[in-house]
Amino acid sequence: MLQPPKRYTITAALPYTNGPIHIGHLAGVYVPSDIYSRYLRLQGKDVLFVCGSDEHGVAISMKAKKEGVTPQEVIDKYDGIIRKSFLDFGISFDNYSRTSAKIHHDTASEFFKKLYDNGDFIEEVTEQLYDAKANQFLADRFVVGTCPKCGNEEAYGDQCEKCGSTLNATDLINPKSTITGETPILKSTKHWFLPLNRYENFLKEWILVGHKNDWKPNVYGQVKSWIDGGLEPRAVTRDLDWGIDVPVAGAEGKKLYVWFDAPIGYISSTKEWAQREGKDWEPYWKDKDTKLVHFIGKDNIVFHCIIFPAMLKAEGSYILPDNVPANEFLNLEGNKLSTSKNWAVWLHEYLEEFPNQQDVLRYALTSNAPETKDNDFTWKDFQARNNNELVAIYGNFINRVVVLTNKYYEGIVPNANELSDVDEATLTELKAYPAVISSSIERYRFREALSELMNVARLGNKYLADEEPWKMVKTDPARVQTQMYVALQIAAALSSLCEPFLPFTATKLSRILKIDSPLNWKTIADASDLLPSGHRIGEAELLFSKIEDEEIQKQIDKLEATKTANKDEIASSLAMTEPQKELIQFDDFSKMDLRVGTILEAEKMPKANKLLILKVDTGIDVRTIVSGIAESFKPEDIIGKQVTVLVNLAPRNLRGVESQGMILMTNDTEGKLVFVNPDTSTSLSTGSDGVGNGETIN
Ligand code: 2FM
Ligand code: ZN
Repeated sequence: MLQPPKRYTITAALPYTNGPIHIGHLAGVYVPSDIYSRYLRLQGKDVLFVCGSDEHGVAISMKAKKEGVTPQEVIDKYDGIIRKSFLDFGISFDNYSRTSAKIHHDTASEFFKKLYDNGDFIEEVTEQLYDAKANQFLADRFVVGTCPKCGNEEAYGDQCEKCGSTLNATDLINPKSTITGETPILKSTKHWFLPLNRYENFLKEWILVGHKNDWKPNVYGQVKSWIDGGLEPRAVTRDLDWGIDVPVAGAEGKKLYVWFDAPIGYISSTKEWAQREGKDWEPYWKDKDTKLVHFIGKDNIVFHCIIFPAMLKAEGSYILPDNVPANEFLNLEGNKLSTSKNWAVWLHEYLEEFPNQQDVLRYALTSNAPETKDNDFTWKDFQARNNNELVAIYGNFINRVVVLTNKYYEGIVPNANELSDVDEATLTELKAYPAVISSSIERYRFREALSELMNVARLGNKYLADEEPWKMVKTDPARVQTQMYVALQIAAALSSLCEPFLPFTATKLSRILKIDSPLNWKTIADASDLLPSGHRIGEAELLFSKIEDEEIQKQIDKLEATKTANKDEIASSLAMTEPQKELIQFDDFSKMDLRVGTILEAEKMPKANKLLILKVDTGIDVRTIVSGIAESFKPEDIIGKQVTVLVNLAPRNLRGVESQGMILMTNDTEGKLVFVNPDTSTSLSTGSDGVGNGETIN
């Protein structure tokens, strides 16, 4: 798009209504999309930000079966809880719809019908998995088995959440019904397939050529590997009793695949909004001057970058997304977030424990957002972000400015008088921030943008700390007027610059400063008189308050209790595999010289609990390696063992012994430390001996 977009359509992944939403959802999708939408609105752009509940699919049916209620009861309950959480956390959707709404059923049916009439589907009778005990075909989450691509034993019938591959249920190795636990049989049934292979060239041209440089590497990389692996026809109908009827003759009892109807939910949510507001929905989806951006988590990449675009292309009258800034996953205290295992911080529960502290969570999640790799949320980090950043930097600056202005001038902004070089430099720096923050937001780097926002507060704090107006208020009142004038300009700028990130704080600060509507960022960049002399501000109110250790301990204890309740499962399925580190290039990897070695001698390092001194025959030589495995292995048990050795790691001196390499280690499924053994199938990619020669590579 060469011209600036005329309007923006921003979508956030529709959450399944099979449970409430937690911090992982907020961090990965809803806070970033909200920051982006709020930012654009502040720039005066025409923005439509839509979402809604994803109410079809097997996840809902399974929850209903488990709870002994109807799917309708499940969706009504969670749609209500989720809506409230979004409202409570200030997620500023222009419309939040439901895929159970009539407008959505109609829109999805029409969409299917149009593709059907165009001849865009392949109609085929194939053998599908069938649970004879439950009298039901098994697809999607009704069946689990081993992923043929990565070996994950808990892959679903449509997707492996471990490697992200999309699957057909019949691809699974050792499939099992999740309804009865039975091994399914094969039974014939007719379905409609979207021949993704027909869209390969279009997808290559559009993404691999067209978006090589502006899409995030994690998104681009996943899409490229799918396209390079070859695309196959994908069934878009299912034998299920919950969902949208397939609107063609001969399809009685069949429903649309949830991933066919869900993304169309963005369109029906737009229609619902347009009807309510008396607007035309079509330009938001069909005008090429509209910029469409999908905010999603990484497990949704294939659906938004391959399947939905292929559907839009087939339909013919729609625009395609300009970007799909998918995030990686957030973990919680070292473990994967899990709805079923209650390993989560639920938004509605958070607000009960930390009332009115939505912005603190928004802040902590954005500062630590999983933008380029999986990240971990810890309560200690949450506390530190609040106490050391929001309270100590942001809140402290605002409080000083407001208290002093009230104390010295009864709340009236003083005259600027004569600006010193420091004042000029400070105001010049302030004026640069809108562009700096904008640039980060427009490149979907929200962590970076937030840290620049905090630099504005730091600028204010430093200015006051250096100038110390309180020391000269009696001796040089004219100078202090100028100082307070400058500090008040920074406070005013903050009230608007923080709005996308901390909307509740922005409202409160604007109220304190008596600013009626948020300042346009252009005004901040161009004008110095953001809060003119003579303007009266209000009384001081605390923006943030310290979070005490006891409050944090309470949350940690709550998680510990969950762990105890889950103790049988936690070691295996909940235990987190270490989050993946940043991507490396093949060249980085190929620098490593890995050899098979044999341990010839092993002894304990004197006065060191963790270290063993090993003599290892690497095939090139016999060398000494100090390894941090003494707590897991006795020296006598490992002599003669074959191990994998990184031989070209720079030598390092450990307690007077030169270590000349690193033994690769990993954890088995029970979390026990084991050798990456060359004659077993242990993965080579997960660990080191914890000492190596400095860096671990896990
Ligand atoms: O993964 C999920 O939670 C899905 N409910 C997301 C759907 S996004 C869109 F396509 F509707
Ligand atoms: Zn897999």
